Amino acid sequence: MGNAENPTFAVQDLETLSGSYHTVMCLDVLIHYPQQKADEMISHLCSLAQSRLILSFAPKTFALSLLKKVGSFFPGASKATRAYLHREADVVKILAKNGFSVQRQSMTRTRFYFSRLLEATRQSV
Ligand SMILES: C[S@@+](CC[C@H](N)C(=O)[O-])C[C@H]1O[C@@H](n2cnc3c(N)ncnc32)[C@H](O)[C@@H]1O
Repeated sequence: MGNAENPTFAVQDLETLSGSYHTVMCLDVLIHYPQQKADEMISHLCSLAQSRLILSFAPKTFALSLLKKVGSFFPGASKATRAYLHREADVVKILAKNGFSVQRQSMTRTRFYFSRLLEATRQSV
């Protein structure tokens, strides 16, 4: 939205966001989405991006899945049990289905948190 000199900011539900943007960036939102819903969200984000999509998600690794399982044994409103993890292969597949291919991938990491970061670009036809 806006331009480089004068960007505009808005608070909005991503699911109903429309428009056409050079680059779409969506950081760590997919943690709220189970796989089927995540596929729909990724497809929607692809439809908004003319050129580039930068996406991060909590990776479904053996260690994180185990941690989540252990967390589920403890009663109470555990954040771990409400977090959805995603397989990178599933994310890459849905990106490809929407005409995007991954150019770079990396991990973001802080002391208490990490997620997988992908940069994908639209393939010209
Ligand atoms: C783990 S936080 C990440 C926040 C921020 N993107 C960041 O990187 O620090 C996930 C955020 O996704 C937001 N979220 C979940 N579903 C959303 C949707 N449909 N539209 C907009 N935001 C959404 C939640 O409100 C929450 O603030």
